[in-house]
Amino acid sequence: MSTTNREFSAEELRLYGANVTSTPTYVAVKGIVFDVSGNPLYNPGKPYAVFTGRDSSRALAKTSLAETDCVPVTDGLSEKQLIALDKWFRFFDKVSEACV
Ligand code: HEM
Repeated sequence: MSTTNREFSAEELRLYGANVTSTPTYVAVKGIVFDVSGNPLYNPGKPYAVFTGRDSSRALAKTSLAETDCVPVTDGLSEKQLIALDKWFRFFDKVSEACV
């Protein structure tokens, strides 16, 4: 497994959305980019594809699949939601390859 260890702009990260088949599929959580390529749950048309190609921290914190929540903004989240976000972060850290 290779790690790229580099930073992505939000625009660049969009190129790693599930709908762009020529690239790996990335999901960012709390500013860290994870490679979810090969996990069919993130394939185009699947419910978790919405998280790909961006930092979806807010959606994970809120257990939301709404595209408008797929943003890095954590303003106004409750303590409970921030804990949920931390749990998701640890989950991605464990099961996915970190790219940054
Ligand atoms: C009816 C509602 C839902 C059901 C029944 C459900 C069920 C599941 C199941 C069974 C898995 C494990 C799948 C596997 O490993 O093969 C999973 C994973 C996951 N779920 Fe849900 N889920 C629901 C809603 C949501 C929502 C609203 C979110 C929004 C945060 C969410 C986020 C995730 C994420 C991020 C994973 C991890 C995928 C991975 O990387 O392996 N789920 N869900």
